[in-house]
Amino acid sequence: MSQSPYKEVEVTGDKSSDVVWHNASVSLEDRSKKNGHKPAVLWFTGLSGSGKSTVANAVDRMLYELNCKTYVLDGDNVRHGLNGDLSFSDADRVENIRRIGEVSKLFVDAGLIVTTAFISPFQQDRDMVRQQLEPGQFIEVFIDTPIEVCEQRDPKGLYKKARSGEIKNFTGIDSTYEAPNEAEIQVLTADKGIEACAMQVIEYLITNNYISKD
Ligand SMILES: Nc1ncnc2c1ncn2[C@@H]1O[C@H](COP(=O)(O)OP(=O)(O)OP(=O)(O)O)[C@@H](O)[C@H]1O
Ligand SMILES: [Mg+2]
Repeated sequence: MSQSPYKEVEVTGDKSSDVVWHNASVSLEDRSKKNGHKPAVLWFTGLSGSGKSTVANAVDRMLYELNCKTYVLDGDNVRHGLNGDLSFSDADRVENIRRIGEVSKLFVDAGLIVTTAFISPFQQDRDMVRQQLEPGQFIEVFIDTPIEVCEQRDPKGLYKKARSGEIKNFTGIDSTYEAPNEAEIQVLTADKGIEACAMQVIEYLITNNYISKD
């Protein structure tokens, strides 16, 4: 995008008053044309163990094979670096998602299809990211797996720790998970294998003209 993608620039005291948007010489349209696909954020949401990271990486591999420009942003990895200063308090969880939204927006501006894999339990936070982007750039992907299945999978042993009280505020146990109201894609991972789940996302991107088949 050559123009500022920010709908409104908040000017807070001395901090931002002298900061002026510098238009880029290569537009997002130029990049999309060269890449051969539209940019987007595939925002995966779901319980721990639902399969966000697994399906996100399977989708990323398929997109890579289709010569798309992609990147995966995954929960724990982001908390190691960019958001290493944030805790799991309510305020910091919101800030965590806000920053990821901003990074996703930069990747979209660079022309990429970015896949994010964060529990992101609150609709309000997911809507905040949707608002940060242009219409059509935010695709909410609900990794819809019953908690019983997630708990049985328990790939990181987190449910066990949450049940024994070793971990507090665990989503689905003693912290709320708000299922999406109107996710663009709902993936039922208990009903089909990983490849089929990933294919469902790829088919959405083809049907809605983000990518082409060949
Ligand atoms: N159809 C399926 N889709 C995705 N994962 C599946 C499926 N069937 C089985 N699994 C298994 O379920 C587990 C999902 O774990 P994964 O780490 O992807 O969850 P997550 O949603 O990223 O959790 P967290 O929020 O803790 O990072 C993996 O061990 C994966 O192999
Ligand atoms: Mg994960």
